Amino acid sequence: MTSLLVLNGPNLNMLGIRQPEVYGRVTLPEIEAMCQDHCRALNVDCVVFQSNYEGALIDQIHAARGIHDGIVLNAGAYTHTSVAIMDAVASAEVPTIELHLSNVHAREAFRHVSFLSKVAVGTICGFGAHGYVLAIDAMVAHLAND
Ligand code: DQA
Repeated sequence: MTSLLVLNGPNLNMLGIRQPEVYGRVTLPEIEAMCQDHCRALNVDCVVFQSNYEGALIDQIHAARGIHDGIVLNAGAYTHTSVAIMDAVASAEVPTIELHLSNVHAREAFRHVSFLSKVAVGTICGFGAHGYVLAIDAMVAHLAND
């Protein structure tokens, strides 16, 4: 069975409370349940994980090698700063989709930079919580064409 890891980085545990005008009112547990439901309907296994710690995210990415077929990664602010997470994605060799709830390109200039884009299959941003469903569909299609 295809297996996906949905990985969320710093501050995403605050979804629903945090700047709802930017990120919406859907909470992380609701998003994770949405991912599980959508994957179940596609007959895909889905593991979810969130951490505010860069190293914990890197450990999950490394551990995905040989276990998960794809990663949906919202690395939060680490997207714009972390060479280490970029390197982890490159080392794990697990196809990874970069995801953002907000349209980072319509926001501050520092959010236009993404280290992850250099190693990701592609990026989905600006569709709020629904972006996770789009990313799962995109990953399943990508894996089917592999
Ligand atoms: C985010 C966008 C990032 O710039 C920000 O630091 C986040 C969330 C998003 O989902 O829109 O924490 O990744």
